[in-house]
Amino acid sequence: MTMAQFNPQVIRYLRPDEIEKHLAELHPGVIVTKGSHESLVPGYIPDLEWNFYDELHRYYVHDTYHGMYKVMTGKYFSVNVVRWGNLPVFMQVANAKIADGMFYQSMTVLGIIMLHQVQTITQQDEQVLIHVDFYVASHWLFKVLHRPFAKRLLKLQRKQDEEDNNEIRYRRRHLRQEGFSFLIDDPDFINSNRLTDHVRFPPFEGPFKISVDGLVQDTTQPVKVGPIELLLRRQENGDVHVWPGLCPHEGAGLDESDICSGVLRCPWHGRKFPGALLRKASDDVYRHLSITVRHDGDNLIVEKEPAAR
Ligand code: FES
Repeated sequence: MTMAQFNPQVIRYLRPDEIEKHLAELHPGVIVTKGSHESLVPGYIPDLEWNFYDELHRYYVHDTYHGMYKVMTGKYFSVNVVRWGNLPVFMQVANAKIADGMFYQSMTVLGIIMLHQVQTITQQDEQVLIHVDFYVASHWLFKVLHRPFAKRLLKLQRKQDEEDNNEIRYRRRHLRQEGFSFLIDDPDFINSNRLTDHVRFPPFEGPFKISVDGLVQDTTQPVKVGPIELLLRRQENGDVHVWPGLCPHEGAGLDESDICSGVLRCPWHGRKFPGALLRKASDDVYRHLSITVRHDGDNLIVEKEPAAR
């Protein structure tokens, strides 16, 4: 990799080929263990970059980053303090984008083990190859911990890849294949951690009609019209509760299992949606991204907001 490809916003960094040397210089007794692993995962580079920057999902999807305390964040770096599971053990974790498709993660464990990871991502058809080089460093007295630590790290990486693939990456790839786009297609640590609406529908015509009588009474059911996914629940009197079936933040698929006491909680980042009641013969309107839903006699009408037409 040439210097020109490095991220100019990261003023000072260790080049990947210098990491081992600098770790070894920490103390005359330091030993460094090197290793690498790879995963081929579904998706596209912008989604994998976003996945790296997106720190909130680590708590909800991976059950890591407990009690996270953000020390500082810039567009291309972040420093956090996190708890190790439920243990009273705290780690400072630094993340940075060093170059296009290259990221660093650096942390110390109990002050005796230093871990530095270099992650590179490359597109391969509809998948992304994630390559991780890792360096575990400590005084030679603790070398016995390197192998179990590296093994645990790999196990964690495999588990997180599986969770990301199943929960997020397949879904994001599917949405892109359907023509959806995202406001943060140039992601960074700032925009990837904002809980605002980032999803953009593909072009579609409308309006769409959904027969209210066709909905099963007192059952929350998913309904898809064009690219629009909704969760609908009809009451006996014809009033209809509506929730999004696609999270407007980053596109998570939502279903009945995400609703508790009438409030839907998104499984990716915990955003909450109380749902709306569309009463029969009323002017009630439900707004979701660039569409509206309203009751019209025997149907629900789903259409673009006037400004989006
Ligand atoms: S996708 Fe982020 S809160 Fe739903």
